[in-house]
Amino acid sequence: MNEENPLWASESFWKKVAIWVTAGSFLILVVLTFDSLSQTEVGGKRVQAYSVINKKIDYVYQANLHKFMPVIGETELLFGKEFTEEEAEKLVTLGKKTTQAKNCMNCHTLLGNGAYYAPDLTKAWLDKGWLSKELREDLMVKFLLDPENNARTFGSNRKMPNLHITPDEAKGVVAFLKWMSSIDTNGFPYNFKTIYATEE
Ligand code: HEC
Repeated sequence: MNEENPLWASESFWKKVAIWVTAGSFLILVVLTFDSLSQTEVGGKRVQAYSVINKKIDYVYQANLHKFMPVIGETELLFGKEFTEEEAEKLVTLGKKTTQAKNCMNCHTLLGNGAYYAPDLTKAWLDKGWLSKELREDLMVKFLLDPENNARTFGSNRKMPNLHITPDEAKGVVAFLKWMSSIDTNGFPYNFKTIYATEE
């Protein structure tokens, strides 16, 4: 090491730095991948098991966390039936595949991803537009089977077209939306007043 060639100007120093930075970043990526998996897997930290569709799901502001959080309550059956985990998975999966096959994200966002033509569906299950928790599931099925004649539009003048899904697929979509509403989305969407908040 002499004055003409200080450490930071030497090629071998920067080679070592490049190797260490690359290796360090790689390690961080591996750790983050496993952390994300634990957050996003069904039955994991943020995503409920499918049988959560047997429960009341609400979305409530938690002052200590400064954000809205899903709250899982007592039994509140969907379509009057208690689903096992396998049955619930089958129904929710049918609903998820229907939303993919019919490309609902072409107009809607799911968990914030998709198009901005129509409302975000993350908390659609909790939308106060379904009037009451007794009417909700039947109204949703009815709407999904014939959205043109059951349009709500909310003053936007936009209408959802009939996507020709079967009654079973519509039930699957409702189960999928109920399950999705229980996901801890870190407070997204913000300030969403649920059907339960309206009833109180
Ligand atoms: C061509 C655009 C378009 C497509 C595709 C579309 N929608 Fe819609 N959807 C709308 C519009 C517009 C509204 C709001 C009008 C209304 O509620 O009548 C809406 C409303 C809804 C609502 C009520 C939302 C709430 O918060 O209460 C649900 C649920 C819904 N759509 C589900 C679906 C599903 C499931 C699919 C795929 C099978 C789908 N949509 C595909 C345009 C679309």
